[in-house]
This record gives sequence, C-alpha cells and structure tokens, in this order.
Amino acid sequence: MPSLNEIRTTFLNYFDRNGHRIVDSSPLVPRNDPTLMFANSGMVQFKNCFTGVEQRDYVRATTAQKCVRAGGKHNDLDNVGYTARHHTFFEMLGNFSFGDYFKSDAIPYAWELLTRDFDIPKDKLLVTVYHTDDEAANLWKKVAGLSDDRIIRIDNDDNFWRMGPTGPCGPCTEIFFDHGDKIWGGPPGSPDQDGDRFIEIWNLVFMQNEQHADGSMTPLPKQSIDTGMGLERIGALLQGKHDNYDTDLMRSLIEASAHATSSDPDGPGKTHHRVIADHLRSTSFLIADGVMPSNEGRGYVLRRIMRRAMRHAHQLGAQDPVMHRLVPALVRQMGGAYPELTRAQAMIEETLRLEETRFRQTLDRGLKLLDDELSKIPEGANLPGAAAFKLYDTYGFPLDLTQDALREQGRAVDTAGFEAAMAEQKTKARASWSGSGETKDAAIWYDLAEAHGATEFLGYDTQIAEGQVLALVQSGAAVPKTATGQSVQIILNQTPFYAESGGQIGDQGILTTATGAAKITDTKKSQGLFIHIAEVTQGEISAGQGATLTVDPAHRAAIQANHSATHLLHEALRRALGDHVAQRGSLNAADRLRFDFSHGQGLSAPELAQVEAEVNAYIRQNSLVSTRIMTPDDARALGAQALFGEKYGDEVRVVSMGLLDGSGKGADGRTYSLELCGGTHVGQLGEIGLFILLGDSASSAGVRRIEALTGAGALAYLKEQLGHLNDVASLMKSVPADLPGRVKTLQEERRKLENEVAQLRRELAMGGSAAGPEVKEIGGIKLIAQVLTGVSGKDLPALIDEMKARIGSGAVVLIADTGAKPAVAAGVTDDLTATLSAVDLVKVAAAALGGKGGGGRPDMAQAGGADIAGADAAIAAVEAILEGK
Ligand code: ALA
Repeated sequence: MPSLNEIRTTFLNYFDRNGHRIVDSSPLVPRNDPTLMFANSGMVQFKNCFTGVEQRDYVRATTAQKCVRAGGKHNDLDNVGYTARHHTFFEMLGNFSFGDYFKSDAIPYAWELLTRDFDIPKDKLLVTVYHTDDEAANLWKKVAGLSDDRIIRIDNDDNFWRMGPTGPCGPCTEIFFDHGDKIWGGPPGSPDQDGDRFIEIWNLVFMQNEQHADGSMTPLPKQSIDTGMGLERIGALLQGKHDNYDTDLMRSLIEASAHATSSDPDGPGKTHHRVIADHLRSTSFLIADGVMPSNEGRGYVLRRIMRRAMRHAHQLGAQDPVMHRLVPALVRQMGGAYPELTRAQAMIEETLRLEETRFRQTLDRGLKLLDDELSKIPEGANLPGAAAFKLYDTYGFPLDLTQDALREQGRAVDTAGFEAAMAEQKTKARASWSGSGETKDAAIWYDLAEAHGATEFLGYDTQIAEGQVLALVQSGAAVPKTATGQSVQIILNQTPFYAESGGQIGDQGILTTATGAAKITDTKKSQGLFIHIAEVTQGEISAGQGATLTVDPAHRAAIQANHSATHLLHEALRRALGDHVAQRGSLNAADRLRFDFSHGQGLSAPELAQVEAEVNAYIRQNSLVSTRIMTPDDARALGAQALFGEKYGDEVRVVSMGLLDGSGKGADGRTYSLELCGGTHVGQLGEIGLFILLGDSASSAGVRRIEALTGAGALAYLKEQLGHLNDVASLMKSVPADLPGRVKTLQEERRKLENEVAQLRRELAMGGSAAGPEVKEIGGIKLIAQVLTGVSGKDLPALIDEMKARIGSGAVVLIADTGAKPAVAAGVTDDLTATLSAVDLVKVAAAALGGKGGGGRPDMAQAGGADIAGADAAIAAVEAILEGK
C-alpha cells in the first residue's frame, strides 16, 4: 500500500518523465494575487503564465501545491473534523501546460497515470464533461474506451472552472471513482449525487478564456491545461479507505494527538483528534510561510484555526499546551517534501506554545461563561448574540469557535445578535474617538477603516506584492478614480509598503494597475490603514482595481540598515554608559539615523570610539537577525528593551540581533540586542555594511542625541572627507599623515608673523624712525598729536601706551585714517590725570571728526568719527584745551 509521500512522488515523477518541470509549491500567502487570502489551488502561482503576461523557461510543469481553504470564499473550516473529506489544509497535485499541449494529451496522461501507475481498475472510473464539449467526450471514448453512460455531460458551472471573479477559466472534465453500491449515492448530475458513493478525484481544466471584471470573457492567447487532484483523496482511494483521515499520514497525526492527550484515537474523542490533526497541518504550514497569529486578516484566520484546535485539545482533557508537542510528528511526515517546515520547526513550536498558553488562561473561564449562559436558556435554544460577543470580546473566542463548541450540543448562535453587539461596540468606539480631538481629516480614515478593516502589511517578507485598491482619497474625500498628474492617497487591502512608525520613515516606490501607474512618495498610517501618498504618473487609477506594489528596494535597504544599526547602537550605549540609557526618540531615514537617549552628560571621545567600534564589530559578525511574536510580558521577562511609556498591544515583535561570545551578559545570555520593534530590519547584520558616528549633542535636559550613518551613506561620507583631506595634502605638497604636524607648524609661523606685522605697522605709522614722532609742548604739557594711516581703531590703544611711555609725562592724540570712518584715541599720563582727562580730549577731537561721544578713563579714551577731513580741526581742538590749562 503506497504511502501519501510515495503517491506524491509517483505523481510528480510521472509528469517529470513526460517532459514536465517539477516546480516547488508556492508559499501559502500568494504574492501575485490581490484578492486571494491563501493559495487554494495549484494554478495560483501560474496565473500569469496562462494569460501570457509571464514567460518562464518551461511550458510544462507539475507541482504538489500547499493549499489552505479557511476564511474567504472557499471556507471549509466549519466542517473539518466532522466529515470524511474536508480539510483546512490539503495538497493539490497538478500538471500544467502553458500553451503547449491541450485536451488530446491531458486526457491520455491522466488515464495512463490512474490506470497504469496507480493501478486503479478501469471499471471503477467515470467522468463528467461540459455539456458542449464533444471533443473531450470523444477523447474519453477513444483513449479510455469509456461507454457513453460513463461520460456524463454537465451543463452547469460544476464543469466550468473559474479561479475567481476574474482570471483564466475554461470547461473542465472531472474524473470520479465509484466506491461501490455498499455506499449510498448517485453519479454526478443525478439527484443523489451528494452521496458518498461517487467521489471526484481529479479535475482537468481546459484553460481557454479569461474572465474580466466587467463580465466579458476573451480567449487566452494559447489554450492551456490546469489540473488538480487532492492528494488526501487519491491517497485514501489507493490505500483502500473511504475517509481521508484514515490515510497513513493523517493517521500518524491522529495517533500523535491521542498519545499527547493519553486518549484513544478512535474513542469518544475521535472528532477532536481529527480536528487537531487537520489544524496542526494548516497552522504549522501557515506559520512556516510567515503568517503570525493576530487580530487582523490572515493572522486572524490562523488564530481562529489555532484556537479551534486548542479547544478540542482541551475537550480531550489536556491540562497543558498540546499542539506544539505534535509538530515533530508532522515534520517527520511532511518535512521531507516541504523543507520549509523543517526549517521553521522551532518557530512553529514556539508560536503554538505561546498562543496555547495564553488562550488557556481564558479558556476555562470562557467555557464556564458559556455553560452559565446555556443554563439560562431553554434546552436546544440558540445562544444569544450578546453572550457570543462577550466570549469573543473578553475571552478571545472567535465566533466560529463558539459555534463549534455548541455544535456538539446541536445548538447554534444567534449570529444576527452577535453582529448587532459588534456594531454597537463600534458605534461606541466611534463616539469616544469623535470626542478625542483628532483632526477632522482623520474622519475619512476612520470611516474607511470601519468599512474595510486594517491594511495587511506584507512587507516583512516581500517588497513586491499585489493588492486591491479599496479607496482613493483626495482632499479628505473618496474619489472613484484619479488621472495623470494628480496627487492622491491610496488605500489597499494589503501592501508591502512600510508606513512610517516607531521612528522608521515610510517606504517609497511604484504602484501599477492595468490602466495606470503612480509614484508613491511616502507611506503613513492612520486607524490601521496604510496611506500611500502618491502622484499618478501615467494613465488613470480606479478604486476596485488590482495593483502591483513595488517598494524601492535601495531606499528600503538603506532604511533597514539604519534601523538595525540603531538597535546595535542602543545596546552599545547601554553597555558603555549603564542601564539608565533608554531610548527617547529615533529617526531611521534612508540617509541617516538619529538616536535620542537618556544620559546626563556629553560622551567623551573614548566613549564614542568604543560605541562605534562595538557596533561595527557586530556588523562584521554578520549573524542572522531574528524576529519572534510574543506577549509584552514574555518579552520583558526575556529581557527585551521596550520603549519607556509606550503602549503595546496583546502581542509584540521581538527583534534579536548579535550573538554573544559566551560571556553570558546578554539579556537571555546569548543575544546581544533584544528589542520590541515593529519595524523592518536587515536579514543579516553584515548588510549594514559600516557604521559611522557623526557626533553627540544635547537634545534636551538629560537627553543626548547621536547622529550616525550606515552602509553606502557612511562610505560616501568617508570618501568625501578623504577627498577633502587629499585636496589639502596636495595643496600642501604633503601626504595626509604629515598634515597635523604641518598645520601646527603653519599656525605657529602665522602667529609669529602676525606679531611681527603688527609691530612693523605701528612703527611705520609713527614715522617709522627711531627718533619717533614730533613732540609739541603746549601750555607746559607735552603733546603728540598725529593722523596715522595703515592702522585700525583697535591698534590705537597700544600705540597710545607706547607714546605715553616715550614722553614720560604729557598727552597723546592719535587719529586712525582707515579709509572709511576714522577712529580717534587720546591718552594722558597718570601724573596729569588729576587735571587733564583723556575723555575730554577725545570728545572734542571726535566732535571735530563729525563723531559723537567718546568714552573711557581719564588716562585713555576712544571714540569714532565720521569724516577724516576734520583731522586738523580735531588736533587744533585738543591743542586749544591744553592751551587753556
Ligand atoms: N484549478 C483546478 C481546481 O482547483 C484544477 O480544481
């Protein structure tokens, strides 16, 4: 009996032998579809190959595709565990032709694989075809020799496959297996078709059209093939089982669940084990593909599945978290075919354990509340919506979990009442928000957030993704479309663009749709919506369109380098200065980083050098940066640095970087930096490249600010500085290493020369002779009175002192003819100041020079003039005073 793993391999090898490329399953989160929540069939990753938009280097492919159907259009969650063939996670085996072969090859391939390689008896098989597809019917007759009664024509959408409201589509043929008349049911198209006797095992789609949003359908450039066969179904068939959960793979998971809960796999808890086995697969694969439990979007679907499984484990009497203990069994079964599962094993286990630990804290109380509420209502009556809402709001019970719990008692929830309670809460939230004083502009964001829910951020894992344009906003109002040259704010259901928060600036990049393109210059956040600030550069963009969003990778890389370096800087500062260092603010832009932190004094040069060297040492270590989601309490217990005064939600991201050398000083003894952070970071520290500290300054009282550069910016800065240095060296005809000595010598020489020049100037001004200036004697007082050129006002006091010394007793008046406004100074030797004041002399001189005032002491005074033409009159005025003495 072949195992599921062997069946998968047989399928892929069969098509490999027939010229098909074996292509890996795409991740569960589609990158190329704006509306799809999870990959739900094999063709999703090839969508654009069918329409001709994308060319690959092969035209035939085969895959085993991971699929999740929970949430959104295909939602199997409610039935899982209770039926034989519903799953939230399943594998779809498929073969694809992109304009290569068509019906006449697809049908023989399928028939040969089923009847020869899988050895299924021909008489157990029958098929359906689209009612007008004679070609397919004839091929089945010819290739398989099926009689007309085993080729059933179906005239409805069961045999016309569409991937969704838009996209490639075409008629299909489905292959059914007859489990025999011991099981009730009729062939497809008959009134009893919903019975379990005839089971569809393989769908071959003849892709030939493309469905457009306006309802029209056009032919594809080339006819193509898309097929899908559920591995679990074909596995059950080939293992002689009727129930997918009885296959070897599912059975091993059910047994792991039974073992972990010490219960009987086939006893009264049978359904619980089936739910657990299925949900273990979907949750583990989703986590491996980057989805984390949250209260929005994909994360919320994951949380709902997780909590549903956890309640079933609880029903089995498990006292402690169970789900994470089952992961090794899953990895044993499926890690070979899906290596990403093995790689993510530790993260899956930790995520499951944390979620289950948390959920268990409220599970008992929630279930008790449920019992209390049920005891108040008549036997079999529906649970009031308000009670279901309380379970949701207070105990984290998603509605479908409550419904699942009630299902076992044959009861349901009053969903209308639940919706009403939810709406009431939103109204209250809105009322309290309206009073919170936020700007009026924010009203549109509030309305849009209420209508569409928060934007899902895909940018931790990808920088290119598709999204659906939910709204275009201009001047605070929604508009249906916008044309070239216009500025607009764009809201999408999901985006890889990071919206400015936590100091990290918003992403830039481009957005394209089928009809236009826009440049995104910034991304901001309000009410959980990511607001893409854009300018339409081409064509027009309409609400409702699918769009491809491409983040400018160089811009993002530079921001990430700065953000990661900020974490290293924070830790280096803490280690250098002490535990009082706490973040007070930060900016992580593309061209620089700024970090404000609590510290009382400036950093010394050795401290700055130490911090810079330590950050660079961790950059060179080039270890992986890792991210985990946990509760704020768990994060703090681990020793993660949290922002002072910041409010955190139910869960936080903890970013770890740098490996300690075993000195055991890190928060967890191993990791250098652990911080709560919602930003994006480099994958490995080496990507930061280089860290250059520009300096430290005071930001506010008790807060210092460091500015720094990383990567290409740091290198450019260093190159620029080096350029200046080389320019100077070449001007000095020297080399950079000798420059400090050379500059010092130059400075000393300059100082000496300046002194000499000043001395010479003074000598020159005073006549330049050893005899010195003329000394008059007026009224018995010696006087030197002169007009000087080549000196400035500030040279005068020194000259006055010199002249006073020369005459021993007397007065000196010097007028500087500066070419502009003249200056005048007067001096009186100390023996005369009792009767003669320099201030009086300078005042009359200044007046004659057209100036005003003058001031100083009796022995030395200065003033300014306006016109040198009054110089003689000034000297005469001074002489007149002396004469009067
Ligand atoms: N895409 C087709 C399906 O999902 C094969 O059934």
